[in-house]
Amino acid sequence: MSIVYLNGQFLPKDEAKISPDDRGFLLADGVYEVTPFYEGAPFCLDRHLTRLEQGLSWMRIQQPVDGLEDVQRRLILENGLESAATSLTYIQITRGAAPRTHYFPVDPVEATVYAYAKAWDRPSPERWSKGFTVATVPDQRWSRVDVKTICLLPNVLAFQDAIEAGADDALLVRDGVAIEGAHMNFWGVFDGVLVTHPTTNQILPGITRGVVLDLAAADGIPVEQRPIQVEELGAAEELFFTGTTGEVRPCVGVDGTPVGDGRVGTITKRLSQLFRAEVEAAKEAAAGTPVA
Ligand code: PDD
Repeated sequence: MSIVYLNGQFLPKDEAKISPDDRGFLLADGVYEVTPFYEGAPFCLDRHLTRLEQGLSWMRIQQPVDGLEDVQRRLILENGLESAATSLTYIQITRGAAPRTHYFPVDPVEATVYAYAKAWDRPSPERWSKGFTVATVPDQRWSRVDVKTICLLPNVLAFQDAIEAGADDALLVRDGVAIEGAHMNFWGVFDGVLVTHPTTNQILPGITRGVVLDLAAADGIPVEQRPIQVEELGAAEELFFTGTTGEVRPCVGVDGTPVGDGRVGTITKRLSQLFRAEVEAAKEAAAGTPVA
């Protein structure tokens, strides 16, 4: 039985009780954050907490994020994940439990803060090297997907459509633009230039995306942040996704058509290596040993 955190307490998951009046349950009135841990060491924890804080502020949920670093570290320990190669914490904060109204509760209520930790698996090197496929699906999300709200219904429906179409993932398309995946940011390589959608209200500003942008710049890979048209995908040399549980994930087929020569590209491989090296450096820094 896993140990979870709910409103100030660590307890076995089956003892965690959330009111049916919770506005997360009734109205998807909340935000969430997923933070990766590698052998118990958090990766980009500050950036994840900052994004959560910004989401709370935009939602006007009065809940500080102070203390949530300790909560996450303790969840990793309580669940025996300190030596798991890859694990994560999930934090969800909702506006709290109150009689259902389409406006904020009139009487102040405490936000509901729920968190858990779990292991996740990287694809094997063989599986990764084969690459992954996507199906294009209309992006039916709202106009503020830059805020990491728990309203993920359009993402769920899109991902399910992609699975039913025989693909590994969904590529969300709006007005002819390949925006992002159902749970990852989207990238292409065109004429040797790395391209990804700019951070507007139409994509989630992924933490992994930010790390990969920095790594590409430091490695001298030319980068352009601009929308990628679906019409251009046939001319892409490489496509890939980035995200907390996907890291750098190659995409070798779109709607049944191979990308480039149908194999994982060199820039994708390079960025994946650089990303893994960054993770190793974070692990070493967390262990207090000098980083090479
Ligand atoms: N998903 N785009 C969307 C729509 C996402 O939901 C996510 C993250 C990302 C990548 O962001 P990051 O690099 O910060 O993980 C991009 C999380 C992991 C999830 O819903 O489980």
